[in-house]
Amino acid sequence: MKKVRKAVIPAAGLGTRFLPYTKAEPKEMLPIVDTPTIQYIVEEALGSGIEDILIITGHNKKSIEDHFDKSYELESELEKSGKTEMLRQVQAISNLVNIHFIRQKEAKGLGHAINCARAFVGDEPFAVLLGDDLVYSKKPCLAQLIDVYKEYGGSVLGVQTVPHAEICKYGCVAGEKIGERTYTVCDLVEKPKIDEAPTDVAILGRYIITPEIFDILSETRPGAGGEIQLTDALRVLAKSGKMYAYDFEGRRYDVGDKEGFLEATVEYALRRDDLKEKFAAYLKSEIEGRL
Ligand code: UTP
Repeated sequence: MKKVRKAVIPAAGLGTRFLPYTKAEPKEMLPIVDTPTIQYIVEEALGSGIEDILIITGHNKKSIEDHFDKSYELESELEKSGKTEMLRQVQAISNLVNIHFIRQKEAKGLGHAINCARAFVGDEPFAVLLGDDLVYSKKPCLAQLIDVYKEYGGSVLGVQTVPHAEICKYGCVAGEKIGERTYTVCDLVEKPKIDEAPTDVAILGRYIITPEIFDILSETRPGAGGEIQLTDALRVLAKSGKMYAYDFEGRRYDVGDKEGFLEATVEYALRRDDLKEKFAAYLKSEIEGRL
C-alpha cells in the first residue's frame, strides 16, 4: 500500500459568503485570533505526516504565498530589536515543509480545482484539506483518516452528522456501518434538497483520494451551482473502487461562513492561556449587559 505523502489545499474559491473582505483577500487568510486559517490547516497536514503540500490559489493569491515565504526585512528588524520569540515564530512559518503553489485560473468549482493538482500528485493516494475548513481535535483530523486508509486502503472521506436542515449545504454520504465510526460508501449527493437527502452524514472538508479520480474529473460535467463538483467525481469513483467514510473526532468550523468564523474566533481565544481569562470575563460582562 502506498503511503499518503502529499496534500492538496484548494484555496481558490471566490468566497462570496464573506464579501467584502474576500474582494481582494482570500478567505483562507482570515485570522483565527492571530494565525491565518490556512496555517492551522498546513500544520494539521504536517502533524499527520504529510511531506509535500500544494496550495491551489486564485486571483487574490499574493498574501498566501507571502505568508509562507521568507520575510528578510521583517526578520532583520525583529533580530535588531531583540524580539527573539517573534523571530522564531516568523522563521518557523517559512520553514514548514515543502509548499508549492499553482493557480486555478477560473473558479469553476472544487472538482476543477483538484484537477489542477494532477501533475503534482502523480500516481499516489493524496490528501485534500479544504482551505476554509478548520478542525480542532486531539489527534489531527487528517491523521485519523490516514489510520483508516492504512487499515482498509481505498479512498476515505471525513464526515460528521449535521442537523437535518443543514445537509443541503454539503456533500451527503449514504453508507453501511462497518465499525464504530467507519462506513463503506454506497452513494454520494452534492447539496441534496432537504427532503431528498438519503442521510444527514456530511463530507466536511477532509479527504484521502486515490489517483483514479483525475481521469474521472476530466470527464465530470458541471453539477450543483454550475460548478465541477468533487462529490460528483467521487460518486463515480465509489462505484468502481473502495471508498470509506470516517466520522472523525473533533470540532469543525466553516471559517468561510460568518457565523463559523465568529465561533472559531471565540473558541480558539478561550483555549489560549494568554487570552482566556480576560476574554471570558469580557464576554460574560458583554452578554450580561445585553440581556
Ligand atoms: P466553497 O464552496 O466553500 O468556496 O469551497 P467558495 O465557492 O469560495 O465559497 P462561497 O460559497 O462563494 O462563499 C470549498 C473550498 O474549495 C475551494 C475554496 O477556496 C474552499 O477552500 N474552491 C472552491 C476552489 O479552490 N476553487 C473553486 O473553484 C471553488
